[in-house]
Amino acid sequence: MRKLSTGLLVLLIIMTTGILSPVSAAAAEKSLIISYDHRKNMGNTKKLSIDALSSATVYSGPTGEKKSTEQVIRDTIKSETKSKVFEIRVKKAYSTDYEKTVQRADEEIDRNKNIKFKTGKIPGLKKYKKIYLVTPIWHGDLPQPVRVLLRNNDFSGKTIVLFGVNLGSGFGSMVRSIREECPGAAVVKARAFYGDAKNNAVKKKVRNWIRKNRK
Ligand SMILES: Cc1cc2nc3c(=O)[nH]c(=O)nc-3n(C[C@H](O)[C@H](O)[C@H](O)COP(=O)(O)O)c2cc1C
Repeated sequence: MRKLSTGLLVLLIIMTTGILSPVSAAAAEKSLIISYDHRKNMGNTKKLSIDALSSATVYSGPTGEKKSTEQVIRDTIKSETKSKVFEIRVKKAYSTDYEKTVQRADEEIDRNKNIKFKTGKIPGLKKYKKIYLVTPIWHGDLPQPVRVLLRNNDFSGKTIVLFGVNLGSGFGSMVRSIREECPGAAVVKARAFYGDAKNNAVKKKVRNWIRKNRK
């Protein structure tokens, strides 16, 4: 038999003994982040005025933070797990007017309306075992685009890890709704954050959660 080079031998030992860096161990997770980021689903956000509910964390509003809480969660999970990101994008953008958005969102949830997407089916969903769902809470529940997206894709046999963003409701009915829309999936409540939490604090908590719960 030909002699193995030292480099190849070391590589083989690393691969077979599980001495992997946290990142490469995570890469084997085959996880996907599904993210609903509201400002990517609004009209022209340049004209958006600072509003306590819909934009506080984005435009250096009252907290002075640079990123939205959803963005920090998504970026931190991504860098910790090397997951791909699937962004939910609705076909018809929401108004930048907060009151109009609330009116539309409430109606969609109350009537369990269908939503049309720019991106509907999730590519390669079959290969992912773990799904990180990053979403704000609306009307005490999942935003309707998130609910319909879950309904339109098959999550059976997968684990959905929920990171929610709220301004007081916590997870509300989100877990129950995910179970309704994703029969056969396991749901894990990871963490719920306040929309106006400090970016660094959120990052640290998400990172700790991921590292503690990494399998
Ligand atoms: C249409 C709409 C409905 C909302 N409903 C709730 C709610 O029921 N409970 C709650 O705690 N926050 C609610 N919020 C606040 C969002 O959870 C908030 O936007 C979220 O914390 C994310 O903050 P950000 O958009 O500044 O990132 C709502 C926001 C919108 C736009």
